[in-house]
Amino acid sequence: MHLTILSRKAGIYTTRRLAEAARLRGAKVRILDPLRVELVLDAEPGVSYQRKKLKRTDVVIPRIAPSVQVYGLAVVNHFTMMGIPTLNDASGISASRNKMRALQLLSARGVPVPPTVMASNASDLKALVELVGGVPVLIKLITPSEKPGVMVCETVQSMEAALEAVLSMGHNLLVQRYVRRKRERDLRALVVGEQVVAWVERRARPGRLLHTLAGGASLKSVRVPAALDALAVQAARVVGLEVAAVDLLEANTGPMVFDVNSSPGLKGLEAATGKDLALPIIGRAEELARR
Ligand SMILES: Nc1ncnc2c1ncn2[C@@H]1O[C@H](COP(=O)(O)OP(=O)(O)O)[C@@H](O)[C@H]1O
Ligand SMILES: [Mg+2]
Repeated sequence: MHLTILSRKAGIYTTRRLAEAARLRGAKVRILDPLRVELVLDAEPGVSYQRKKLKRTDVVIPRIAPSVQVYGLAVVNHFTMMGIPTLNDASGISASRNKMRALQLLSARGVPVPPTVMASNASDLKALVELVGGVPVLIKLITPSEKPGVMVCETVQSMEAALEAVLSMGHNLLVQRYVRRKRERDLRALVVGEQVVAWVERRARPGRLLHTLAGGASLKSVRVPAALDALAVQAARVVGLEVAAVDLLEANTGPMVFDVNSSPGLKGLEAATGKDLALPIIGRAEELARR
């Protein structure tokens, strides 16, 4: 198999692990910086890399950073046009990076999500907040970004200030119920194809809201009921992803999916589980390449 990984740098942990795992399976691997790929549309679509025509590849794993999303997804689409399977495709990646779009797709197919509203202006905030059940609420930026884009508002006044700032910067946002959890933890499933290959939990320190720890929080391997496996796999499928990290929280009414990630990092997940998680991804790439 010839595998192409689209990634800005070969040294990034996940990129390196995927390349390693593929080579161990006997594959030839090329890592291409998506910004250096040139797309040719002529009688037939073609791709070159720094002006040199690229040889045929069997399958592509895109690891497109949000900062280069528009160009990166054009590259992914071009491989699709050439009949080469990509693990994930451009529409799945872009849906997962638009929080409202992802929630729309999930909810339309019966995957429970936190009550959410989207609005383009901040007039009559109180009514907006009532639509999701009152404060506290979360304000989330819709546009993809590498920086955290989530704020908790405990009062309508604090929300007014936050919304004014965010809207005046021209961001789109959604307002979401801050869901109380049965246990103070989030769950993350790594879904590959039709299977969950790892479950981890993220816990808050006592007295802290979970979201404030998102960056530094440590992950721990957990076992979960089989019904959650099915839900995570379904969430990845309805957003259109072959490989995804699906984030859930356990509300009193049952599990809710609040985020779906199309380029999950393997570092924390492998450290927490002690498993080789690159291997199942490469296995799925081999399956798609064979089809
Ligand atoms: N509806 C919600 N209710 C309670 N906590 C939430 C909710 N949505 C997200 N969180 C918490 O906030 C964190 C960040 O939210 P998320 O939607 O994953 O944003 P991003 O990954 O873009 O920063 C999550 O890890 C989770 O702990
Ligand atoms: Mg998230």
